[in-house]
Amino acid sequence: MQTIRALQILLLTAIIIIIPGPVQASRAFPFYSHEGMVVSAEPHASAAGFEVLRAGGNAADAAAAVGFVLAATFPSAGNLGGGGFLVYRRPDGRVFTLNYREKAPAAASRDMFLGADGKADPELSRRSLLAVGVPGSPAGMLETWERFGSGKLSREQILARALSLAEKGFAPDFGLVEGLAHEREWLSSHPSTSAVFYPGGKTLEPGDTLRQPDLARTLREIAGRGRDGFYSGWVADSLAAFMAAGGGLITRGDLAAYRVQALEPVAVDYRGYRVYGMGPPSSGGMVLGQVLKLLEPFDLAAMGHNSAAYVHHLVEAERLAYADRNHYLGDPDYVEIPLASLLSGPYLDSRRRLIPEGRAGKSLETSHGRPGPDHTTHFCVIDRWGGLAAVTTTLNGGFGMGAVVPGAGFFLNNEMDDFAAAPGEPNMFGLVQGEANSVAGGKRMLSCMTPTVVTRVGGDGSEEPAFVIGAAGGSRIITTVLQVFLNLAHFGMNVREAVEAPRFHHQHLPDVVCLEPNALSADTRRLLEGMGYALERIDHLGTASAACVLTGLESGTWYAGWADGMGVGAGTGY
Ligand code: GLY
Repeated sequence: MQTIRALQILLLTAIIIIIPGPVQASRAFPFYSHEGMVVSAEPHASAAGFEVLRAGGNAADAAAAVGFVLAATFPSAGNLGGGGFLVYRRPDGRVFTLNYREKAPAAASRDMFLGADGKADPELSRRSLLAVGVPGSPAGMLETWERFGSGKLSREQILARALSLAEKGFAPDFGLVEGLAHEREWLSSHPSTSAVFYPGGKTLEPGDTLRQPDLARTLREIAGRGRDGFYSGWVADSLAAFMAAGGGLITRGDLAAYRVQALEPVAVDYRGYRVYGMGPPSSGGMVLGQVLKLLEPFDLAAMGHNSAAYVHHLVEAERLAYADRNHYLGDPDYVEIPLASLLSGPYLDSRRRLIPEGRAGKSLETSHGRPGPDHTTHFCVIDRWGGLAAVTTTLNGGFGMGAVVPGAGFFLNNEMDDFAAAPGEPNMFGLVQGEANSVAGGKRMLSCMTPTVVTRVGGDGSEEPAFVIGAAGGSRIITTVLQVFLNLAHFGMNVREAVEAPRFHHQHLPDVVCLEPNALSADTRRLLEGMGYALERIDHLGTASAACVLTGLESGTWYAGWADGMGVGAGTGY
C-alpha cells in the first residue's frame, strides 16, 4: 500500500505540473493515473484491482477481484450474500450489462410481510430470514470475469487477494470499526456473526486484526469449483440448513436455479454525451435517463450550481421520474414495462410541460418512513485499452439482515425489503411503490442501483470514453449519480469536486427536498421555501464514486478518480 500511496503522490505532483486549465485552478485533487484506474470504497479492494491491472488483466478482471475483496474488507455492503449490477464498456465500444440482483425464493408470496393487522411488518422484511433474497453476487462476479475478462488470469488469481485477506486478516478501517461498534447489540444477537466480528465478546478496535476463516473456506471453494462452489456443495448446504432452522425460505433448489442475466443497457443521449445505465430490475438507468431528457432543454449551467432555479428544475424532473418508477417498474420477467415509451421524446415532452414555473409541484400526500441505515457500494475500473466497468453491489441495509451463515462466514442480504411489502406503503427508503413491484416467488425486487458509463459523442457519431459513475444510498443513488454527472458535464468540476459537492434529493414521495449540510445557501433555501418546497436537512444522502478519462491533454490520456464517504474511499492506478 505504501508503494501505491507513494506512486499516487508522485503522479499527483506530475499532474499538477503537466495539466493546464481547470485542474490547476482546483483546490481539491482526485487520484490520477496514466495506465488504469480503480476507485472503490476501501483501500485493499482498490489495491487488488490495481494488482490485477498491473498483471495484464482488463477492467472486467479487476472488477471481479475488487468485488470479492470487498466481501472480506467492507462486509457491511461488499458481499457474497447479496447482489448487484455491472455496466461494462468493451474497448471496441460495445456496452453490456449483467443483472445479478437477488431473487425471491420460489416459496415467497405476495403477502408474506404482512403482520396480523394487515400492514407491512418491517421486522420481517428487514431483519428476519424471510428478508433474504437468493444471493447473486458470486455468480455475477464470476460471470464478469468469464464473459468479459482478458483470459490472462485464472479464477484462483482473481480470488487470491480476497482469500488471503480473509484468512490472514487485515486491520479494519475506521468506518468498519465504527459500524461494528454502532450495530453491536443487533449484530451480536446472531451467534454466527458474533463469533467472527465480536470474538470473545470484544468489539474490534483500530489496530486489531480481523480474520474470517469461514469466509476464507467459502472463497477457496469458489476459487476451486467456480459457481458450483457456492450454489451447490457444502456452502449451499450450510445456507439452506440455516434457513430451514430459522424460518427462512431459501432452499438448495433456489440456489441451484440462480442464473445471472445479460441485458441490454438503457442508453440516452444528453448534450453530446451518451449515458449507459442499468435497465430493470434496476430503476437507475430509466430514472436517470428520464431526468436527463426532461432537463436537456434547460440551460443548467447558466442557472448556476445549486441555485434555487437549478434545485427547482432537478426536483421537478425527479418528482416526475420517480412517480413513473414507482408505478411502472418491477422485474421485467414478471411485469410488462413500457420502457421505450417511458423514454420517448413525445412522452417526455408532455411530462416536461407539467413542470410548474417558479413554484413547487405537489406529490400526493401520504405518510412515509424516514430513510433507515442503508448500505450499498459502488466501484469503477478503467483499463488502458478503454474498457470501463461500473459495478454497484449491496446487501441492502448495512450488514444486510445481520446474520452470517454459520460455517460459511458471509452476511446475508435483506433485499426482500426492496419489494413493495404492501403496495402503497413506504419501504426502508420511504419509497411508495406499486403492484408492479409486489413480492412473488422467483421475482427480482426493483432496485435504485445506478452503475453508469458515459461516453462523449463526436460530430461523426464516434464515441470516446468519458466517465464511470455510481453511488450508494438506496433511493438516493439515482439523484446522486445525476448530480455527479451534471457537476462534471456542466460546472467544470474535476472528479473529486464533482463527487464531494453537497447534494440534494427528491423522490416524489415523501414530498420533501432533502438537503445535505451546506448544500444550499440561506438565500437559496428562502427562495425555494417561497416557491412552496418543504426542505429537510439530512446528514448525508449517500456516497458516490466516479472515475473519468481525461483526453486531449498534451500528455496523452490520463484517468482521475475519487470516492467519497466516511474518509475511507480509495482510488489507485498507475
Ligand atoms: N437495496 C437498494 C437498491 O437496490 O436500490
